[in-house]
Amino acid sequence: MEGENTKPKILIFGGTGYFGKYMVKASVSSGHKTFVYARPVTQNSRPSKLEIHKEFQGIGVTIIEGELDEHEKIVSILKQVDVVISTVAYPKFLDQLKIVHAIKVAGNIKRFLPSEFGCEEDRVRPLPPFEAYLEKKRIVRRAIEAAKIPYTFVSANLYGAYFVNVLLRPSESHDDVVVYGSGEAKAVFNYEEDIAKCTIKVINDPRTCNRIVIYRPQTNIISQLELISLWEQKTRRSFKRVHISDEELVKLSQTLPPPEDIPISIMHSLFAKGDSMNFELGEDDIEASKLYPD
Ligand SMILES: NC(=O)c1ccc[n+]([C@@H]2O[C@H](COP(=O)([O-])OP(=O)(O)OC[C@H]3O[C@@H](n4cnc5c(N)ncnc54)[C@H](OP(=O)(O)O)[C@@H]3O)[C@@H](O)[C@H]2O)c1
Repeated sequence: MEGENTKPKILIFGGTGYFGKYMVKASVSSGHKTFVYARPVTQNSRPSKLEIHKEFQGIGVTIIEGELDEHEKIVSILKQVDVVISTVAYPKFLDQLKIVHAIKVAGNIKRFLPSEFGCEEDRVRPLPPFEAYLEKKRIVRRAIEAAKIPYTFVSANLYGAYFVNVLLRPSESHDDVVVYGSGEAKAVFNYEEDIAKCTIKVINDPRTCNRIVIYRPQTNIISQLELISLWEQKTRRSFKRVHISDEELVKLSQTLPPPEDIPISIMHSLFAKGDSMNFELGEDDIEASKLYPD
């Protein structure tokens, strides 16, 4: 039919969250009919949650309210879409096994992208608290493979805006910057909007089916010390570097109570060890900026 939208319809779980919002907007602006499966908003929901729902409705997103254990409801929505992207939060990582099961039952999904969007968890071995976090993502990967669901696992590396805020604290007044480890290890910072736009290309690309795609553009690789220097040039200020050594980070990861032990272990992995750059990409690896040079 003339004018019919033939682009894959996308269902996003966790779409109201920090990264999910970028994903929803990228999906809508590239012309995909977009559905978001979200927990119901109630009178007790945070105003920001209500705002997000309103904003999504305003841009044509279909919101389906429900919980992840509403199997029949999820299966019936899956039958109306082609692609599923999950950006659910850490406490819900293993609940994605329910999505995997529903996708298997529905039988029509052309691609599933689970909630990854971080480091390449099959190739890093961080400190135990972060390792346990990644292990949940690995369990979901293995379940998707076993269910023979077409997938793409996205290793987006560091969310740029998120980590610039964490490291440089631009909205606070301060003279110091915390440096994790020596500050010399390189890391890959990719802006959330770029990650989301790239992911929309990935979902419909036959080259990325049943593959891991790593987002590692050369231009986005930078050490913590280099980032601080750039920030000093931009702000025409100088900041005192306060180092937390490798040993101190390990100790903190062992002594902080859960879940506070997770962020410190993540900082150790990303900045003291440089895990996002700690492995070479071989000929078999798919790197996003090579797939989409523009
Ligand atoms: N690469 C990086 O630098 C980086 C940084 C942070 C996160 N990440 C990754 O990005 C992905 C998404 O993380 P995020 O920080 O964007 O997630 P988030 O904002 O914390 O949450 C995403 C959504 O999950 C649902 N949710 C959250 N807590 C829940 C709970 N207790 N019970 C049920 N549902 C819950 C909510 O959706 P509803 O309320 O609508 O149901 C929420 O909007 C994760 O895989 C995470 O590991 C990567």
